[in-house]
Amino acid sequence: HRVGVLISGRGSNMAALVAAAKAADCPYEVVLVASDKPDAAGLTHAAEQGIATFSLSPKGMAKAEYEAAIDGALREAGVETIALAGYMRLLSGDFVAKWRDRIVNIHPSLLPAYKGLDTHARAIAAGDREAGCSVHVVTEELDAGSVLAQARVPILPDDTPDSLAARVLVEEHRLYPQTLAEYVTR
Ligand code: GRF
Repeated sequence: HRVGVLISGRGSNMAALVAAAKAADCPYEVVLVASDKPDAAGLTHAAEQGIATFSLSPKGMAKAEYEAAIDGALREAGVETIALAGYMRLLSGDFVAKWRDRIVNIHPSLLPAYKGLDTHARAIAAGDREAGCSVHVVTEELDAGSVLAQARVPILPDDTPDSLAARVLVEEHRLYPQTLAEYVTR
């Protein structure tokens, strides 16, 4: 099953998806890594792994034009499922409709709690005892599609947003490949 990964930065979740795909019994392969940030660190890692990359800055482009270019690159690579991994741009309803039920995302909270940004700071500020991450199907509305899987971690008394993020990220790297593998064989 051919997967395309969209990133905007570091790409550690993309790297975890790529690493897991090396297992003989993994049902997916990552055939394209695309970024809206041409200098995203994750692009270098993907290229080093021998994966095709595509980058295009949306600056100065209409959203529809930009998304048509991304869509074209994905289709040209024969992508069947899109995995968002730190992709910091909201996809339009038109784009999502074209890929209905074929886009997944990882979000660093226990959805439906803390959609959007700064999830860890918000969880700490609220006095939560637990945080985590969710893999969900992407719909037009931000972080709102059906949740496929979640992993939980404790919030410790001395946690900062960074220390909590690091603890959650370990779980993201485990949960995302496993959930994507299940999703593409559903
Ligand atoms: C992760 O925390 C992910 O859950 C969120 O953005 C971050 C991306 O990190 N959507 P990386 O680029 O995968 O390292």
